[in-house]
Amino acid sequence: MKAVAIAHPNIALAKYWGKKDVPGNYPAVPSLSLTLAGMSTRTEVVFDDAIDRDVLVLGGVPAGERERERVVGLLDRVRVASGVARRARVTSTNDFPTASGLASSASGFAALALAATRAVGLQWDAARVSDLARQSSASAARSLFGGFVALESPPAHAGMRLSAIPLAAEDALDVAMLVCVTTEGAKECSSTEGMRITQERSPYYRAWLEEAPRTFAALREALVRKDLERVGALTEASALGMHASAFAAGLMYFTGATLAALAEVRALRALGHATWATVDAGPHVKVLCAANEVERATAAMAAVPGVLRVIVARPGPGARVEE
Ligand code: PMV
Repeated sequence: MKAVAIAHPNIALAKYWGKKDVPGNYPAVPSLSLTLAGMSTRTEVVFDDAIDRDVLVLGGVPAGERERERVVGLLDRVRVASGVARRARVTSTNDFPTASGLASSASGFAALALAATRAVGLQWDAARVSDLARQSSASAARSLFGGFVALESPPAHAGMRLSAIPLAAEDALDVAMLVCVTTEGAKECSSTEGMRITQERSPYYRAWLEEAPRTFAALREALVRKDLERVGALTEASALGMHASAFAAGLMYFTGATLAALAEVRALRALGHATWATVDAGPHVKVLCAANEVERATAAMAAVPGVLRVIVARPGPGARVEE
């Protein structure tokens, strides 16, 4: 009744922002991401007769109640599917700083979903595990797969299965993602809360809902053509559109350092360098760049006032069980 799984974070090129008005955590828009190598979450799950409450230890310390409850939600779904009633001990560690702005929920719930299903003996394929992970964190559905991954947004009804789909291998584009860390503090507004505020208050949320699927489709097409210029331009447009809809709701993830880093990416591009920016639910800037631009772009981003450090990540593989 024990299994260990490893998963990597992913960064959305076409962003998911907003949920469908249906229970079950279905994204309101399709998204397209790149799974990263070099950083990983390792999660061990042990279903144990001797405990009467699920236990979650994150990075060596007992997790807070909110985090524990999100994990219990996933474990409950595994118990229903398997008929196993036992409680579980979950031990998870990231080999990257959680305040780096890399969605630790993506790699975290991907690793948890895989380890928990294997621990109870469910031999689900990656798609079915992806659907399980999605119910806890939609971005986690994408970390089951390596390289470039899509999560579509079809009409949904409660209980419907929705998994991410691998689109292109890790080497489909010769790129890297530079994670420019602008603060060591935890983010102030979770993505779930940020989406709720945007959906309730932003006059531009409807425009986002109309535009995001077009950006996604164009990005997918550009990826098939291996057109990095177009992939990069659409990546930046998606992030700016997402944040514009949030701004209009009074929700701002950007800080001065975010703007300075975005300006540097534009300056690099004006000099002819293949670099594009994306920003998630936090102040950090992630730079998509051609592999041969890594050195130059890393040095330029590290020199931006407010950028504390730059993590260089290459495309990486999907989640897997540790034997
Ligand atoms: O899956 P969540 O709840 O962590 O939301 C992810 C939201 C973004 O990171 C901002 C965008 C994305 O598609 O990953």
